[in-house]
Amino acid sequence: MDSFFIRGNKPLQGQVTISGSKNATLPIMAASLLSSGEVILTGVPNLDDISVMSEVLTTLGAKVTRENDVLIIDGKDVNSCEIPENISRKMRASNLVMGALLARFAQARVAYPGGCAIGTRPMDLHLKGFRSLGYDIREEYGFMEGKADKIGGKEILLDFPSVGATENIMMTASLTHGTTIIRNAAREPEIVDLQNFLNRMGAKIRGAGLDTIKIEGVKHLVGVEHKVIPDRIEAGTFMVAAAITRGDVWIENVVSEHIQPLISKLREIGIEIIPGSSGLRVIGSSQPRPTDIKTMPYPGFPTDMQAQMMAFLATVKGTSIVVETIFENRFMHVQELRRMGANIKVEGRVAIVKGGRLQGASVEATDLRAGAALILAGLFAEGETVVSHIEHIDRGYDSIHEKLQGIGAEINRK
Ligand code: UD1
Repeated sequence: MDSFFIRGNKPLQGQVTISGSKNATLPIMAASLLSSGEVILTGVPNLDDISVMSEVLTTLGAKVTRENDVLIIDGKDVNSCEIPENISRKMRASNLVMGALLARFAQARVAYPGGCAIGTRPMDLHLKGFRSLGYDIREEYGFMEGKADKIGGKEILLDFPSVGATENIMMTASLTHGTTIIRNAAREPEIVDLQNFLNRMGAKIRGAGLDTIKIEGVKHLVGVEHKVIPDRIEAGTFMVAAAITRGDVWIENVVSEHIQPLISKLREIGIEIIPGSSGLRVIGSSQPRPTDIKTMPYPGFPTDMQAQMMAFLATVKGTSIVVETIFENRFMHVQELRRMGANIKVEGRVAIVKGGRLQGASVEATDLRAGAALILAGLFAEGETVVSHIEHIDRGYDSIHEKLQGIGAEINRK
């Protein structure tokens, strides 16, 4: 298995281009099952998670082909409504096909995705949504099974603005007769991209990006072409790479509005950020200031940037506080950062970070964003950092070491 070998302590400079969004592509791929037509997606990142979702769709009978950043999904021969456990366990987001299958075939059987490294991640909100729409949902022998019963649009109040539950309900409701209203919906930019995609297919959805989404069910949806939005978390990771190395980087293909909470935080710390029409420039500070961070649903500070910011704060003189409110076990990068000399104490969901120097060490990526955080720490540290278990990083970063090399980082994969 490959590792990343990093020699740090060098300011990054130049230009890097961000790929399409993983978290926008995955639900859109699932939504393509709503039509028997051909869906053409452009700007699709080259990631292991996208390959797993392609496998999910292929298992169901779809034909998926890829050329560079274009993915073509032909759903004409979809003939199965079941996702077996060996596929479901590979990636939690495979559960996103359940809503589409229920809507198109009036039945679905999906193996429970189980927990994952960062938390238990239940499915109750997704299932509550399907039940409200009139599907008969059972949970037996590790499977979630659904059948259409007395289906029709309903008003659904989510107890928490879950991204996946909002997406799954949007997909099902698109083809469910009547009007569905989702209250306390997730507001992430990826939800807006899904709405735009579904509406292009012929759906009637309004309100994505706000906390109330209204979906008027239609009879059928058609295949379309769609370009996915840029990946705001990849962009954020490169912004922190520029900041942590006290560098100066132009980050191309970014929608600044999507990463406003990160921009505000970095500015508070003393980082200069100059937005342009298609990207932004990040200029590091030689005397960054400590800060406090609390992860929240969008438009709050993203949990998917918490680990990377903690790596940065571990290099900023003074005391910073990081509170994780979304996932119960998302501090696994802390013990690895400590190996590099970071002074971080964890009490429950709160981490107290006292910034200082970091020293290269052998560390392990325990999950996707934790892995990104360790690369960032390695870019700052003195000496060599070796990051192992980079299969986690391959799930969500397209060519990360080549992109970092392009802006002057000494990072190799072997
Ligand atoms: C999505 C993102 C992930 C991001 C997360 C939060 C994708 C593919 N993944 O994950 O990168 O970290 O949003 O921004 O888009 N929950 C329940 N019951 C449910 C569903 C969720 O209790 O039925 C809880 C989860 O355990 C978690 C919290 O709600 O603690 C947030 O989960 P959710 O917003 O659903 O995240 P995902 O859609 O899984």
